[in-house]
Amino acid sequence: MISKEEALGLIRRTTKYSHALLTSLMMRRLAEMFGEDEERWEIVGLLHDLDYDQVKDEDMTKHGIVAAEALKRKLTEDQLYAIRSHDYRSGFKPKSCLDKALIISDSLAVLIEEVKAQNLEDIETAITRISAKRTWLRKNLGMCDEIGINIDQLLKISRETLNLYFGNRYLALLLGERGFVSSVLIRNEAGRILVFESLDGFAALPGGSSEFGETPEGTAIRESLEETGLRINIERAVAFYNLIVFNKDGTEKCTFSHYLFLASTTDTNPQPNAEWKNSKVECRRITLSDLRHYKNVWPPTEVVRNKVSEGNLDLGEMGELEYHMQ
Ligand SMILES: [Fe+2]
Ligand SMILES: [Fe+2]
Repeated sequence: MISKEEALGLIRRTTKYSHALLTSLMMRRLAEMFGEDEERWEIVGLLHDLDYDQVKDEDMTKHGIVAAEALKRKLTEDQLYAIRSHDYRSGFKPKSCLDKALIISDSLAVLIEEVKAQNLEDIETAITRISAKRTWLRKNLGMCDEIGINIDQLLKISRETLNLYFGNRYLALLLGERGFVSSVLIRNEAGRILVFESLDGFAALPGGSSEFGETPEGTAIRESLEETGLRINIERAVAFYNLIVFNKDGTEKCTFSHYLFLASTTDTNPQPNAEWKNSKVECRRITLSDLRHYKNVWPPTEVVRNKVSEGNLDLGEMGELEYHMQ
């Protein structure tokens, strides 16, 4: 079967890329709800409009059919059928739960894009207002009944999808082809946080770059485990910002989105991995206010580090910040 990365590669160059991402996020949630294979459903969401640019000016009765033909060896028959039947103009009738879930996700995605919805209220209003005027939309969303989803569940899925879409910058990150970095203040039961301290007065927090499709929380949890052996519970997002990193000579090194989390752990014995297990670095437990004593703490900027050391753990979105290497 085709991988998610491959599916993204196929849809990336089309005008339907962001629509496909939104639809796929919704498909994933629906699959979870129905106990189906999330990745298989997600891939259907990603690829359902693969032929759109090709057929839109010619013959929309071929929409979905051309895509299914092109994907014949990459998808299973049920996935192909869902793609063929997602637009009524193809003449294929939706039959399975997967077929109907795609139609619902597709319609919701269209709705969200049309009203540029950013929160649940926007979606609720759009569902009542727009679908009153457009029969096809009303009919498509009406399929919820057929697969046993009520309006509350539909709104819940929409809200979760929007959270992923905007809250986590999922879309921006995927579109921008760049990942993000999550770092964690891992607090133990004694209220001390863990840092990797270098002999020359610098410190770094556990954390690292996202892997494909990960949420910032997911990255934080995985990286903490990999680097420290600690299993953590995320308590909150402390800060989020775009970081521009400058080299010592003032040239720009890189930019990325940075998420700083506060997490707790009941594990007592950190086991630094190879990356941190060397003679120049020590894994230490410090208080939040100790953070200010380092020359630099990677990757929070000085502003963030100072606020955190004062106990301010609710910084929220901070726009664009700079980090200067020393
Ligand atoms: Fe379509
Ligand atoms: Fe679509």
